[in-house]
Amino acid sequence: MIAIGCDHGGFELKQEIMKHLQDRNLEYKDFGCYSTDSVDYPEYGKAVANAVAAGECERGILICGTGIGISITANKVKGIRAALCTDCFMAEATRLHNDANILALGGRVVGAGLALKIVDTFLDTEFSNDERHIRRIAQIED
Ligand code: RB5
Repeated sequence: MIAIGCDHGGFELKQEIMKHLQDRNLEYKDFGCYSTDSVDYPEYGKAVANAVAAGECERGILICGTGIGISITANKVKGIRAALCTDCFMAEATRLHNDANILALGGRVVGAGLALKIVDTFLDTEFSNDERHIRRIAQIED
């Protein structure tokens, strides 16, 4: 199960991503928001981060205007490694190296075409399980 959430700046891109997940037969849970009316991104960042941290969802996708505020919020939750990605190299590397469990995107930064490729790369890349990366991730939690 994928947790997905956004603020008003990410609402339109979230609609595209949810359609894409449906096309891929991937289950998701939408934590809002539900329109382009102005809202506060921390509410949605926390909701998705808490669902992933609790194990209710395996991965999360968060979108705000830049992806910055909502990723900062998510990374406050213990056990969350939210990665703001603007290209597929970053999405692949953060899965291989950081075992990132939330992808953050900027709805005002990346177009839908690129965003969907980033989503696919993030979801389809497994953690490397390399000893050095396991060690470094453990140090984040110290
Ligand atoms: C909302 O205007 C905007 O500040 C928000 O979507 C995000 O970019 C914050 O980091």
